[in-house]
Amino acid sequence: MAEPTQTQAKVPPAPPATLVIFGATGDLTRRLLMPSLINLTREGLLTDDFHVLGIGIEEGDDEMLRKRIADFHPEKGGEGDTGHGAAWDALSQRIHYMKGDFTDDATFEAVKAKLDEAGTKNAAFYLATASQFFGPIVEKLADHGLMAEAEDGFRRVAIEKPFGHDLVSAKALNAQILAKVAETQVYRIDHFLGKETVQNIMTARFGNMMIEGLWNANFIDSVQITAAETVGIGTRGKFYDATGALRDMVPNHLFQLLAMVAMEAPNSFDAEAIRDEKGKVLKAVRHWTAEQAAEDGVRGQFTAGTLNDADVPAYTDTPDVARDSVTETFVALKLMVDTWRWAGVPFYLRTGKVMAARDTEIVVTFRRVPFAQFASTAQERRPPANRLVVQVQPDEGLRMEISIKQPGLEVATVPVGLDFRYADRFDISKLTGYETLLYDLLIGDQTLFQRADGIEAGWAAVQPFLDVWAEGGRPEPYAPGSMGPDAADALLDRDGRAWHVGVGEAKAR
Ligand code: BG6
Repeated sequence: MAEPTQTQAKVPPAPPATLVIFGATGDLTRRLLMPSLINLTREGLLTDDFHVLGIGIEEGDDEMLRKRIADFHPEKGGEGDTGHGAAWDALSQRIHYMKGDFTDDATFEAVKAKLDEAGTKNAAFYLATASQFFGPIVEKLADHGLMAEAEDGFRRVAIEKPFGHDLVSAKALNAQILAKVAETQVYRIDHFLGKETVQNIMTARFGNMMIEGLWNANFIDSVQITAAETVGIGTRGKFYDATGALRDMVPNHLFQLLAMVAMEAPNSFDAEAIRDEKGKVLKAVRHWTAEQAAEDGVRGQFTAGTLNDADVPAYTDTPDVARDSVTETFVALKLMVDTWRWAGVPFYLRTGKVMAARDTEIVVTFRRVPFAQFASTAQERRPPANRLVVQVQPDEGLRMEISIKQPGLEVATVPVGLDFRYADRFDISKLTGYETLLYDLLIGDQTLFQRADGIEAGWAAVQPFLDVWAEGGRPEPYAPGSMGPDAADALLDRDGRAWHVGVGEAKAR
């Protein structure tokens, strides 16, 4: 039978606009924003009316910024070129640079003059800066009239993470921003929402009766969300030591995954309906008492060791990290979601650096069948639980684990996996994940961006862990190339469960 063809409505190009990037000479712009803009240009989604105005504290002109980006992306066309070279040639002509201090009024006056001079109606300001600048830049943009929308134009601001440092600071930042601009103008980025597999969770659930029909505490035993990384801290010591694994990954990335898994069906697919449901479920994550947080949260810090045959110095020997640092590089949490649908179903979350493999996955474990009605099968040989594994990255895909009869005279069951891998059907490897976020920013679709209430609900749920760890103690040590400290295994073991072995971890073993 012929494979069904992929049906996709033609997506129209983004409206004419200028993307003003604060932090244009930084890593994010070079590594993710620019490649995404090139991909969008190649797809015809950015036209000649689209311009970039980069702002950075370094001296330089348009050519300096263009050259920097080109040097970083040496793909210049030629044989085998898929249009990348041509797209870069077209886009690069419309990239401009301006030196400017993010705290200086003169910078904002100069940006205004440039936009006015070009007759720009639509502008999106992208804050690819250190987080201490988020609030002040938004204030200055508004004070200089840059956020005022003409009747036929838009003004939007995209804000990177980390959005706040804890509940109090996140609330203060929201208040500072929303005192100056409307929520409809604010696009809080969580780049996990740009990942195809993450967006696919909603489709998998709400597009399939077979899945959604069983998606509740009656059939589901537990949920695990893992984001294991092999990378260490690299040159980010200063940022990371003040942040730690919990703040860096949990209230944002992992909670976005949790919200996708646990939310109720929205009553439409528009941004507000979806964000209402995500907000509701994040608010339903139970706030642990100090004692429970101490019991249900595990923090770890990697020691010196080896990973993939390379020596890894201890976290505390990383440049710009305090030698006696108690910052965690690994975290595992047990959470409960207090809704009718999820009553009694634990959600186990873990993430960490220099672990055995890069595995970001969601594992939904179903309840086991109550009784094994197979003539010669002893009750204790009940088939194992069914599992649905969403492999977010790498090797994006979905796997369903079911039991079948093992061929032979004896009636014995054997677990098998039904696998779907994106790579077998689609080419998503060339996308950075920021394409959809940038395009949505320009067309004004806030679905994949976080709303103030969702951000605050996330921080509120992790605050008990932050508080109890701030009181003292040290993270548990773990070796590079492991899956975290023993205490993380004990967290599940005590509930009669174990962490799922991901694809990457299985290969690494
Ligand atoms: C970032 C964190 O937000 O996400 C990093 O600051 C982390 O520490 C990264 O490595 C993970 O993103 P991805 O897309 O590589 O899984």
